[in-house]
Amino acid sequence: MHTRNLVVLLPFLSSHVSAHTFIWGVFVNGVDQGSFKGIRTPPYNGPPGGGGYNNSPVKNLTSIDIRCNVMGDIQAPDTIVVRPGDNFTFDWHHDKRSTNDDVIASSHHGPSLVYISPDPPTENSFVKIWHEGLYEESVFPNPGKWSTTQNIAANGGSMNVRIPPGLKSGHYLIRAEMIALHEGEVSYLNVPARGAQFYPNCVQIEVVDGGDVELPQGVSFPGAYDYDTPGIVYDVYCSTETPKTPRATPCTTRYPIPGPTVWTGAWADTTSVPRGPIEGPTTHTSWSTWIRTSTVTSASYTDKKSISVVGTSVYTPSWSTTYQTPVAATGRW
Ligand SMILES: *[C@@H]1O[C@H](CO)[C@@H](O)[C@H](O)[C@H]1NC(C)=O
Ligand SMILES: *[C@@H]1O[C@H](CO)[C@@H](O)[C@H](O)[C@H]1NC(C)=O
Repeated sequence: MHTRNLVVLLPFLSSHVSAHTFIWGVFVNGVDQGSFKGIRTPPYNGPPGGGGYNNSPVKNLTSIDIRCNVMGDIQAPDTIVVRPGDNFTFDWHHDKRSTNDDVIASSHHGPSLVYISPDPPTENSFVKIWHEGLYEESVFPNPGKWSTTQNIAANGGSMNVRIPPGLKSGHYLIRAEMIALHEGEVSYLNVPARGAQFYPNCVQIEVVDGGDVELPQGVSFPGAYDYDTPGIVYDVYCSTETPKTPRATPCTTRYPIPGPTVWTGAWADTTSVPRGPIEGPTTHTSWSTWIRTSTVTSASYTDKKSISVVGTSVYTPSWSTTYQTPVAATGRW
């Protein structure tokens, strides 16, 4: 089903490669379901020849990677069991699953969004169940209070949603996303070195003890966002510039969150739930080990001693059109 050519590898060594934010675990009603469980964790996909990242941001809005990140079609071995009304907390981190992790770089201001879709997704199947953007407007010289940096990061990586009331039993994917707009004042289409950075992550859930509620029509990924969608091109620093700076367009401080409105059947207001202890590792496999032992789409990393770990592989995403029962670990972690 999945095309994976695994090719890798040169001498291994331990090294540090920059990471970007991703989901390390989920809590159901405050109970941790275990590190990396149920999560389609993005793989190493750093640019060849550079430092690379575990998950470079997705910037291409027509790429399938915008759906569930790179290799998002590959199932996690586990599925998280939930019931309608459950409080579901994503635990986002950067370098480690710990309260002193910075969660997301402090410059990465932007909105957070959560969608739910039947698993596997079909045309227009992603329904938005929560979002948050600029929740306190900019007052010079601050960029305002943004969901990613001032809520999610400030609250230890917790992003809270609730499983919609009465939702039908079955298998779903929850697509949680942070969008970093620090380079978003221009479109990636016009200036490929810049543009909004997307960090989508998908979690496999099974709703049990469900009701009769079917999801309404939603949006597709790719498809939901376009390069000129309001809120994709947006200058978060606009308000920090002196009013004397000549501007082609006036500075807006009212931020339009991209994508559809939140489904009226969802819990638009969610509250944080006290989190119990973390179950499982708080650190991840080092990127060099990952490159060495896992599928990577493209990787090259040179550590401070200039010894390189290189991996390359060809990967063709292949989304099934019918639900597949996850199989045991594939070596991603
Ligand atoms: C974006 O992704 C599409 C679909 O995979 C691809 O055809 C296109 O070349 C990509 N664009 C860029 C700039 O990489
Ligand atoms: C979820 O959180 C809300 C608000 O704190 C609470 O009223 C509700 O009982 C919680 N649901 C479950 C299933 O614990």
